[in-house]
Amino acid sequence: MFAERSTSQALKYQREAAPGNCKHEDPLFLWIADMDIPPSDTVITAISEFLHSDTFGYADIDISSSVRQWYQRRDTELSTDWLLPLHSVVSGAITAVRTFTSPDDKVMVFAPTYGPLYNAVVSSERRPVVIDWAKGNIDEKRLDPDAKVLLICHPNNPDGIVLNHQQLTMLSEFCEKHDILIVADEVHADLVFEGPAIPAWFDLYKKSITLNSASKSFNLSGIPASAYAIIPDESIRKRFARVIARTHLDSGPVARVALNAAYQSGGKWFDNTLSLLNENRELLRSLFAQLLPEIPVTMGNATYFAWLNLNKYGDEKEVQARLDDIGVVLSPGSEFQYPGYFRLNFAVSPELLHKTVDRLSQAF
Ligand SMILES: Cc1ncc(COP(=O)(O)O)c(C=O)c1O
Repeated sequence: MFAERSTSQALKYQREAAPGNCKHEDPLFLWIADMDIPPSDTVITAISEFLHSDTFGYADIDISSSVRQWYQRRDTELSTDWLLPLHSVVSGAITAVRTFTSPDDKVMVFAPTYGPLYNAVVSSERRPVVIDWAKGNIDEKRLDPDAKVLLICHPNNPDGIVLNHQQLTMLSEFCEKHDILIVADEVHADLVFEGPAIPAWFDLYKKSITLNSASKSFNLSGIPASAYAIIPDESIRKRFARVIARTHLDSGPVARVALNAAYQSGGKWFDNTLSLLNENRELLRSLFAQLLPEIPVTMGNATYFAWLNLNKYGDEKEVQARLDDIGVVLSPGSEFQYPGYFRLNFAVSPELLHKTVDRLSQAF
């Protein structure tokens, strides 16, 4: 069940960390990407047992068979040799960009998308080629054949968009034709609501680095090292692995213990969580339809965000001021290279969703 964690150290509930200027006496926190839901007991037990052991020295805990087993839920087979444990998904994306491109090379990124991916390009002094894919509309004419890497978040954070088979094939064929590496952040790929599981990038295109983690699916973002890369091509994998080893960016034992517990025995917890999220999604959809029909909302087929188009209420600063007044804390679109929009995290209690929409309807 959903439960507020406001007495804990959760960043989500800290006014100073929240976007905007949150002075409201009863703020409603629906921003950063974690869920108001306690983690699975199996993960808590596994971490506790590890903490009560006397082995805090260097350790080598294998995660490959649990990752393989977890992908089988998506009807996807992977070879355990393709796997590399990582400190985090974002450090994996930065390493991939820096390893496989040179300064000033072009890297395709999408907008709106998760800001640290765009920053991975800019902070590495590569040139971002930004492709606007609002509502998942992409066509080949907007892609750049001179780019060295296509960096994609799929399903997309913040709008939950899942590309269809034709679009995925088009991207893969384009990249194959122009010898472009695909780096895919799949961290939201388990959280798909309707239809079949989405294909994994390593299954679609072999010149790719798929980045994933148990952190979003199992609400373990405070243990970011439950991340890994899947790289079918041997020479790409070896080159990437050398840099990860040299920079000490692989994962530590606590994270690996958490990942193994989640993937091996957290299936039931995950299914239950996904169905609670789906109920919230339906609830939010109907609350917006009833109380805020004039606000365009995108809720794709994945993950726990609603993406609100608040453009007509002024620029980001003006909209932020209205949100501050009613004490509703959302993530501003500029974090996703898309000002004018705001992201609402609906992995909260249904009561909180009612309260939020009620307040929004007074302000917009
Ligand atoms: C798309 C996406 N990638 C990566 C991350 C963060 O992953 P990590 O902490 O492993 O870098 C997030 C967190 O919200 C995310 O939404």
